[in-house]
Amino acid sequence: MADKRTNTAPAHTLVFGNEKGGTGKSTLAMHVVASLLDRGFAVAVLDLDTRQRSLYRYLENRVRFAERHGLRLPMPTTAALPPAKHAGLSARQTAEAEALANALARLRAGHRFVVVDCPGSDTHLSRLAHAEADTLVTPVNDSFIDLDLLGRVDPDSYQVTALSHYAEMVWDARKRRSLRGASAMDWVVTRNRLSPLQAARNMRHVDSVLRSLRQRLAFRYVPGFTERVIYRELFPKGLTLVDFLRADPAARMTISHVAARQEMRAFMDALRLPGWAEAGVDPSSRRAGGLE
Ligand SMILES: Nc1ncnc2c1ncn2[C@@H]1O[C@H](COP(=O)(O)OP(=O)(O)OP(=O)(O)O)[C@@H](O)[C@H]1O
Ligand SMILES: [Mg+2]
Repeated sequence: MADKRTNTAPAHTLVFGNEKGGTGKSTLAMHVVASLLDRGFAVAVLDLDTRQRSLYRYLENRVRFAERHGLRLPMPTTAALPPAKHAGLSARQTAEAEALANALARLRAGHRFVVVDCPGSDTHLSRLAHAEADTLVTPVNDSFIDLDLLGRVDPDSYQVTALSHYAEMVWDARKRRSLRGASAMDWVVTRNRLSPLQAARNMRHVDSVLRSLRQRLAFRYVPGFTERVIYRELFPKGLTLVDFLRADPAARMTISHVAARQEMRAFMDALRLPGWAEAGVDPSSRRAGGLE
């Protein structure tokens, strides 16, 4: 087994993508980053949402919170892509491709995981990033509007009748990986912001559509996340479910928090990331994360 702290294993690239805004890409990305840091992995982050920069804002809040409270919180490395200044579309896209390739090469060299957060829209950089994904995570909310990004659904039978734009884009990314001899992409789709009160009928229909899409699109459909206030509250402190109890002296554990942490843990296990399971039984990795 390769040692995760000396980073001798090849870096694994996780991309969070979905052309629909607000499904929880940045929130989940931050929680995955914190989970990996907590187990002692060296993690790098690339936020490709140049307009909102939600993941970088999350991390900036984390630095500020740690400074204010004199804490030593594990942090990922971040990188910024230089703005593409070229006037022509083709020259700009070439410059973007070069900048992304350089940034990824740099980050992969020193880290075990590189986490890339994409904007909720179809951009050239996002397309390129999808073709770099060893693991692609696509959160969807519990609604047919979200599912429409993956496939068209017959309103009577709930059968999938056609693939949608985003699914075609992922297909294209897979093809590009295969052409350059890269490993097959593991595409993971998960539901986020599940309402405990939502009509059971709708949840069943969404669930059956996702099961049918899973075969057509070759993704893994893994357990997701309930709608919980805690996900929204932790952003200003830059903390996550993984570390807020240890980091925030004012924090109190509730039953909802316990359930949320179980969801997060189940999700991390379901991602099947290299070295993840082994790191869970090695207590020294937690000390290496600086939190014990
Ligand atoms: N499980 C959850 N429970 C409650 N709120 C959540 C949950 N997941 C995400 N949110 C909230 O939903 C909003 C959108 O989340 P987030 O910014 O992570 O989505 P996104 O997919 O990255 O959006 P964009 O496409 O605009 O980048 C945020 O206010 C976030 O705090
Ligand atoms: Mg986002």
